[in-house]
Formats: sequence, C-alpha cells, structure tokens
Amino acid sequence: MSFLTRRKSVEAAAQAEGSHQLKPTLSWYHLIALGVGAIIGTGIYTLTGVAAGLAGPAVILSFAVAGAVCACAALCYAEMASLTPQAGSAYTYSYVSLGEMVAWVIGWSLILEYTLVCSAVSVGWAGYASGLMEQAHWAIPKALLAGPDAGGIVNLPAVFIALVVTGMLLVGTRESATVNFVLVIVKLVALAGFVALTLPHFDAAHFHPFAPFGYGAHEIDGKKVGVMGAAAIIFFAFYGFDAISTAAEEAKNPKRDLTIGIVGSMILCTIIYMVVAACALGAQPYDVFSKSPEPLAFVLRQLGKPGAASLIAGAAVVALPTVIMVFMFGQSRVFFAMARDGLLPRQLAGVDRRGVPVAVTVLTGVIAAVIAGALPLSDIAALANAGTLAAFIATALAVMVLRRTRPELERPFTTPVVWLIGPAAVLGCAYLFTSLSAKTITFFFAWNAVGVVVYLLYGRAKSRLAA
Ligand code: ALA
Repeated sequence: MSFLTRRKSVEAAAQAEGSHQLKPTLSWYHLIALGVGAIIGTGIYTLTGVAAGLAGPAVILSFAVAGAVCACAALCYAEMASLTPQAGSAYTYSYVSLGEMVAWVIGWSLILEYTLVCSAVSVGWAGYASGLMEQAHWAIPKALLAGPDAGGIVNLPAVFIALVVTGMLLVGTRESATVNFVLVIVKLVALAGFVALTLPHFDAAHFHPFAPFGYGAHEIDGKKVGVMGAAAIIFFAFYGFDAISTAAEEAKNPKRDLTIGIVGSMILCTIIYMVVAACALGAQPYDVFSKSPEPLAFVLRQLGKPGAASLIAGAAVVALPTVIMVFMFGQSRVFFAMARDGLLPRQLAGVDRRGVPVAVTVLTGVIAAVIAGALPLSDIAALANAGTLAAFIATALAVMVLRRTRPELERPFTTPVVWLIGPAAVLGCAYLFTSLSAKTITFFFAWNAVGVVVYLLYGRAKSRLAA
C-alpha cells in the first residue's frame, strides 16, 4: 500500500493499548473535575490580559466564541476517544480515518502543541511567582524576568518551574485524583474571590468603547487584533479536555456522563471565564492591566487589596504546575503511540523500570524550559494554539469520515447532531487558525514542512504498515 493511502484499522488501534481493562468508576462530576483541573490555567490567569489588549472590553465575546468552538471539538474528541480509548489522541484518530501521512502531521503538530503549552503555562506561573516575591520584598531583577524580545536576558522563574515539573515527573510523580480535586477547588475559590472583591468596584464606563479594535481579525504591528484575533489567542484557555475524553473507558455511563462531563466543563469554564473577565474589565480599564504578567493580582493591587492579590497569586503558583504536568504526560503518550507505530525511534518513547518515559520527559522539559526562558507568552500561546487547532480539525474530520466508512462500529459515545457539530468544529477551528498572526502561521507551516521531511526520510520506511 502506498504511504499516501495507508491507514490503521480502528480495531488494531483499540487493541494496541494492551489488554488491561479499566474499571468504570467515574461519574459525571468526577469527569467535570478532571476537565476543569486540566483546563483552567494560564489562559484565564494571564492571557485574559493579553487578549483584552487585543480586543478591548469585547474580549468577553472572544471567550464566548472560543468556548463554543472548543465545545464542538470536545464532543468529537469524546466519540473518537470512546472508539480508540487511550491511544495517542488526535494522532491515532487521524491514523484510523485520514491515513498515515495526515496522522504524522497531526502527531508532529501535537508535539509542538504540548511542548509549547508547557512553556506558556511556565511563563504564566513565572508572572505570578515573581509578583508574589516582589510583594515579599525579594524582587527578582527585571533582566531575569523576560527574554531578549522583551528587553531582558532570560525568564528565570519560567525556566525554573519547567525544570522542576520535569524533575517531579522523572522521580515518578503522578497526577492523583485527590490532589487534582483539591487544586480545582483552590483555582475556583481564587477566581470566585476575585469576582467577589472586584464586583463592588464595577464601573460600566470601562466598557466604552466596547470593541476599540473591531470584530474581525486584522494585523497591527505583527499581532492580530479584534474580537476574533483575541479569540484565536484566548482559545488557549479552553483546551486540556483530552483529559476527559481519554477517561472514556472509565466512565460509569459513557453515553450520558461523557456528554455531561465534556459539555459541562466547557460551559462551566466559559461562564467562569466570562464573569472573571467582565469583573477585571469593570474594575480597571483594560489598557491598565493588559500588559501585566499577573493581571488578576495586578487588578486587586490597584484596588488597594495587596493581601487578596497575594492569595490569588499563591493559588496560581500552587495550581498551575499540574497543568504543565498534564501536558508533559500528553506528550509522552503521543511519542509512545508514534514510536509504537514505527514512525519515531522506539528509544525515544522507552520507559524505565518504574514506567517513567525518561527520554521524552527530559527532551520536552528542556525544550519547554528554553522556550519559556526566551519568548513572550503571547507568541508561545499563539503557536501552541495553531498546533491544537490542526488537531481539532483532524479529530472532527475523523469522526465524520468514520461515520461514513465504518458506520457499523460500536460507539460507546456518539457526538450529538454530528453533521452540525462536526462541520462547526472544522469551520470554527479553521477560522480561528486564519485569525492567528502571519508570523505564527508561517512558523507552524515551517515546523510541519520539517516534519514532512523527517517522515519521508524515516517514518515512511520504518512504519509498521510499510512491511
Ligand atoms: N487551558 C490550559 C490553560 O489555560 C492550557 O492553561
């Protein structure tokens, strides 16, 4: 079979994970906690400021648009995850439906995404950690808080946290449901506290003009502004729900609970994000906090509440590292799936005696640390979003292709109104993709051009399906 057309069967993908069967123990509220734990991170805590700078007060609409697109994609993920549980996410979904070549490109995009999410969350963490230290009179010199692009030398706290999480994974730390649950509560209480403290200072005058940069995305100084330009950035705040779809096997009642879990966590996050953003905007004009590396703490400090600012910064510092951990795990799963299929060298995906994927973790951690130390958050997040949008498009296409080509497969979960949700996910993601800056899109294609060369030189011949 030509490498252009070969694809893996759904049955082979489902079996490849091994014979272990996970016990169905999770209810919809567990799934919501899992989703919210992986989703809420640097997006709302830090990118709210960046996105407000791109859209003005209309950033609230950007949240709604990005949330709606993600909800459609999330429903497609759930169907694919229930067909091929636990096996390399969008990479595997593409392999069984769109063929090896597309799967490779998606896997290569996921590697980019996961690494950059680790970097972006590290930079977000650094903003809050350094603000907290400054408040405690241990200010870190400015040159060590930003990369050369922003006039500094290196973002040292971002490098630090990326390496600390890498170290934790290397010694075998795993996410635990209890710790995740506690951190979800910490994140939610901190955001609720922010809302409660800023609401009394709400000034509707800050919402005029509502959309100073207009609605459609257009480029100013290398950045796409407008509601859609901001939506393409704030999209970052919504992903991480793979955590729920890969738990498909463990859901007690997948049909009902996955829908509630996925749609529930999306709706919950969208509402929380819109309320938090509205409160920040009501408390301070957007151009005052949009440049802060710790916008929520900054707003509270401006309102004369340094104690509350420290608490919200503390919550971010404690809770954000788990988001890095979730994505570093995701990276090792994608590498594992690609190496198992012969498309990447097996040594890269190998695990040690304790089951820790040492090579992938060190590689991801060090590259994520270097990027976090050197580049500004908005550039890193934009590129992570490009990779994610490509994966979402592929997953939505995979669902529709398999509905046509393999209608007989038993689907523990089916995407509702798939011929509406599927195209909405594809078109919504494609539109957000085109709303990214030209620099981001160019880099994304350059990355994948390198990927295609790697595939032609290595994976095409080494693929298990090449035999
Ligand atoms: N949604 C995750 C975050 O905002 C990636 O940090």
